[in-house]
Amino acid sequence: MATVMQVELGERSYPIYIDAGNLQDESLITRHIKSKQVVIVTNETVAPLYLAALSRYLNDFMLEVVILPDGEQYKTLTVLDTIFDALLEKHFSRNATLIALGGGVIGDMSGFAAACYQRGIDFIQVPTTLLAQVDSSVGGKTGINHRLGKNMIGAFYQPQAVIIDVNVLSTLDDKQLSAGIAEVIKYGLICDSELFIWLENNIEKILARETEALIFIIERSCMNKARVVAEDEQESGIRAILNFGHTFGHAIEAGMGYGQYLHGEAVAIGMCQAADLSKRLGWLNETDVHRIETLCLKAGLPIMPPESLLADDFIAGMSVDKKNIDGDIRLILLKKIGEASLPMSVERSLLLKTLNEYGRR
Ligand code: NAD
Ligand code: GLY
Repeated sequence: MATVMQVELGERSYPIYIDAGNLQDESLITRHIKSKQVVIVTNETVAPLYLAALSRYLNDFMLEVVILPDGEQYKTLTVLDTIFDALLEKHFSRNATLIALGGGVIGDMSGFAAACYQRGIDFIQVPTTLLAQVDSSVGGKTGINHRLGKNMIGAFYQPQAVIIDVNVLSTLDDKQLSAGIAEVIKYGLICDSELFIWLENNIEKILARETEALIFIIERSCMNKARVVAEDEQESGIRAILNFGHTFGHAIEAGMGYGQYLHGEAVAIGMCQAADLSKRLGWLNETDVHRIETLCLKAGLPIMPPESLLADDFIAGMSVDKKNIDGDIRLILLKKIGEASLPMSVERSLLLKTLNEYGRR
């Protein structure tokens, strides 16, 4: 049975469609297009796989396709500009619709292009990685990286709809599937202990890509995310918990060079570091940390920080974070499995202990 859930944001509310085979359903896409002009933004990997399936419904529209290079290292201002080039060269108007077909990089970048072009055009998310289906396509965070900090340039801009077809995950490689599982583990840790336990007991079903199991974790993740976003769209409070593990993780991504660690991999390491710090605060115990590490490992994720990234490098990376206030590093930590803290500063000496000792020989 196809699922439709709603992100409740008043006049900016929108549906998330989740099912196997949603890309076969023409009406899901076309009902959300109010214009003649449509642009699909995708990349060189996803285009040969799914562009034809999507564009065959759009023969009656003035369709443009923008194919970007593939990779986190291309989530830049320079590449963003090529989307604007295409829209302007083809005289796209303010009522045009942009469709983002791809993973989180395409979704974030295209969403930001939609937010900026003529001060805002409609856009639809068609996420094709597990990570994008459980996280980045929902909630309206759009943007690009800066060499000094990840996702530092961007806008909150909600799509008209999110269309998720789990069948597209069949072509995703194992490493990318694992990266997506990291964000699902995150929901379990911050607000859904039942989901965490379910993952502990059923991770093999996800790794085997059983459709029902995939639909279950996507629905559960989107439900958690939609609830948090509805409560705090622009992250003045509770939404910050969705960044659990990300402050450490972003420091790894930027510090090691974008693309060296997948976002989900860096988040997994960051979640384990944050769990270690939570233990040092007396909130988690040894068994909790072990459960988190074990689940990440079973999911095919790394848990140890890169050897070459020293505590000072982490501090430098973590100092460029949107949660920081007056230059103070603020972190999301775990009170217990299933409950996160709001952003908080911890004594620098304690943070340094985690950075110097967790996963270090
Ligand atoms: P990605 O977009 O780089 O996709 C991963 C790889 O999979 C790419 O090579 C892509 O071309 C390929 N791919 C995509 N779909 C495929 C398919 N169906 N079959 C085969 N290959 C496919 O990475 P990602 O993990 O999807 O997203 C990571 C990005 O998302 C990061 O930039 C991160 O900052 C961002 N993010 C944003 C939010 C948000 O709320 N906006 C949340 C989490 C992550
Ligand atoms: N991925 C963090 C957020 O959407 O707020």
